[in-house]
Order: sequence, then C-alpha cells, then structure tokens
Amino acid sequence: MSVRVNIGCGLCVGRDWINIDGSWNAWLANHRGLAGLLTPIIGRGWKAWPAGVVHGDLSGGRLPLKDATVDILYSAHFVEHLTKEEGQVFFRECLRVLKPGARIRVVVPDLEGAARRYLRDLDACGGRDLRAIGECPGDEFMRQLSVSGPRRRWTKAADWYQVWYDYHRHFWMYDRQSLSVTAERAGFCEILVDVRLSESGIVGLDQVERAGAVGENGEGFALEAVKPREERER
Ligand SMILES: C[S@@+](CC[C@H](N)C(=O)[O-])C[C@H]1O[C@@H](n2cnc3c(N)ncnc32)[C@H](O)[C@@H]1O
Repeated sequence: MSVRVNIGCGLCVGRDWINIDGSWNAWLANHRGLAGLLTPIIGRGWKAWPAGVVHGDLSGGRLPLKDATVDILYSAHFVEHLTKEEGQVFFRECLRVLKPGARIRVVVPDLEGAARRYLRDLDACGGRDLRAIGECPGDEFMRQLSVSGPRRRWTKAADWYQVWYDYHRHFWMYDRQSLSVTAERAGFCEILVDVRLSESGIVGLDQVERAGAVGENGEGFALEAVKPREERER
C-alpha cells in the first residue's frame, strides 16, 4: 500500500493518510480523558479534531519519517507558517523522505493574487473617502497576509500555548516563482504550478484538499514536483 503523508493537516484528515500536525488540540484529541478534565481551562477546541493525528512541531527541521519511505507528500496552507529558512529546510526534508520518483503537492496562499486584488480594489475606490465604509482594501490585504495577529500576553493563561506555539501567524508568503525556486533549490524536478485537484494524478487527494484551498484573489495555488530518480550532485 502506498504511503501518503499529509503535513500540517489541521482538520483535513485523510482516512488513508498519515496526518501530522503540531496543534496541541491534535495531541489532546489523542488523550481524550485528560482533555476532558482540562476542558474548563483549555476550552473545547480539541473536540473538533479526530483521534490519530501524529503530533509534532515541524518548524524544528526534521520530519518524523524515515528516508525514502513516502510515496506522496501533501501539505496545504502550512509552509507559510514557517520562516523562509524553515521552508527551505522543509522542502529538503520532503525530498529526503520521498521515494525516488515520488511526488509532492504543496498548496499555499497566493501572495501575487492577494497583492493584485489589493491594488485592484484600491483602484476601484478611485480616491473616494472610505472612512464611512470602515473597511479599506488594505485591511483585507493585511488579513490575507496574516503576518500579524492578536498580541499574546503571558498574563492570560489561554495565551501561553499561543506564545510558545505560534501556529496561526504566517511567517513567510510565496508566489509561484518563489515557491518553485524553493522546491528547485531543495532538489525537486518536474515542477508545475497551478495544478488543479481534478488534474492531479494523486490518488485520494479529495480526502485531504478542502474546497477553497486553491482559489483566486490570493486564496491559494498548488505546486507539484517530483523527487529525481537519480541522486543529483548538489
Ligand atoms: C491553516 S492550517 C491548514 C490546515 C489544512 N491543511 C488546510 O488546508 O486547511 C495550518 C496547520 O498547520 C499547523 N502548523 C502550523 N505551524 C506548525 C508547525 N510549526 N508544526 C506543526 N504544525 C504546524 C497548524 O496547527 C494548522 O493545523
């Protein structure tokens, strides 16, 4: 049976996939007795998660997988939660764990699409005073970038975990060019962008790719690439 891995799965957990995520809610969903006791303090967020997600922080570099053991590696709306350097390491790790000739599919929010939408919306305002509307095109652009977020305070117990594990903020954003360069530098070949779900040959992709993961106006685009069959000089 082919080994398919879904990294940064969130709630998009595939039945026939190894699903990995660093959220403590994923860990708690595997320890439901303890989670039940802690619910008055930590809230009920863990209840949305199915059991069986492999828990692990993936910003540290190493994927919890052996060399050349994976047939398909999928990751959607995760890489932008890593810094640029961590993202490069992530792609190298993906190359390490994939079998020669195996495929990766990475979906990220679309920096170019978001920027183009921002400029289009700004132009459409035509210099009108937007104070009465209350929402400016720049607000939506900033939301899409997600580089900011609520300020976390050590004094608020519920924020402690967020201070330690800042999994919701974006640390880097990609367009088609920069994601392709990252994949190429890691050693991938046959790099294609904008591969639609219906065009992808990956079996069982519909289990893990949610509707709207790929879309216009900055929502997201998909890159697919292949691990070379022959070891290349690096
Ligand atoms: C925006 S969600 C994407 C979820 C899903 N793949 C999707 O397409 O909707 C990002 C996921 O990555 C996880 N994540 C972010 N940073 C992480 C890290 N450093 N290690 C492990 N998981 C991380 C978060 O817990 C979250 O579930």
